[in-house]
Amino acid sequence: MNIVITGASGGIGARTAERFLALGHDVFGIDLAPASVSHPRYRHFTADIRDPASLPEIPDVAVLFNNAGAQNSADDIGNNLTGTVNVTEKYIENAPSLRSVLFNASASAVSGQEFPLYAAAKAGVVGYMKNVAIRLAPRGVTCNALSLGGVLTPLNDPVVRDPASWEKIMSVTPMKKWMTADEVADWVLFLTLENRSMSGQNLLIDNGEHDLNATFVWPSYFSSEKPYFSEEK
Ligand SMILES: NC(=O)c1ccc[n+]([C@@H]2O[C@H](COP(=O)([O-])OP(=O)(O)OC[C@H]3O[C@@H](n4cnc5c(N)ncnc54)[C@H](O)[C@@H]3O)[C@@H](O)[C@H]2O)c1
Repeated sequence: MNIVITGASGGIGARTAERFLALGHDVFGIDLAPASVSHPRYRHFTADIRDPASLPEIPDVAVLFNNAGAQNSADDIGNNLTGTVNVTEKYIENAPSLRSVLFNASASAVSGQEFPLYAAAKAGVVGYMKNVAIRLAPRGVTCNALSLGGVLTPLNDPVVRDPASWEKIMSVTPMKKWMTADEVADWVLFLTLENRSMSGQNLLIDNGEHDLNATFVWPSYFSSEKPYFSEEK
């Protein structure tokens, strides 16, 4: 199958490309940066997704992974939202083999945290994903979004490699870890190749950061006495 991945030179994009290649697929990577993947079935296009004219012609697209993005850049709306719309509108038309579209949004689309225009753009990606899902449903094509919390990629080195920042992050991360790019690739492969019936969904995968920071206060709740399980009537 022909797989298109934007942001294919970055941490998540490159690892995902390698995983599709290992399964025998042909991968077409698009990125502002030169290729970081090298494989006989990998073709790289240096392009800016904000400029529709720079996007290459790619035949018979089966899977589109909209992954390119930038945080706190000079143009967060363009790099994360407008560019993603450009790519999607180009590759979902005249694509009879299309089976799935997946967007890499962000936990900030759900929580509103992080940089203002990044959060706005990623929330826009989720809204746009639903619009695309509605349009593609009659063709039997699934369309979903990942909203990831922290991922261990070079993008995050400033906080991952700074012990004080990392300690603060772990104090608000109930599962006490971040995910790897390989684990993200597991989700991407399942959602684009296996899933046939879930569409229009935004999956928040964040080690419990948004939903599991318990705020319930009750004197005996965390004691071993557990009076709320008492068998006395
Ligand atoms: N790493 C995380 O913790 C995390 C968390 C949530 C969401 N995300 C999202 O996952 C995606 C990939 O993140 P990553 O950690 O691999 O980052 P990364 O910076 O390693 O990779 C992003 C890639 O996108 C490319 N890109 C940016 N703007 C572009 C443009 N206009 N045209 C073409 N290419 C462009 C960059 O050159 C880069 O190679 C991003 O959309 C990011 O917002 C990442």
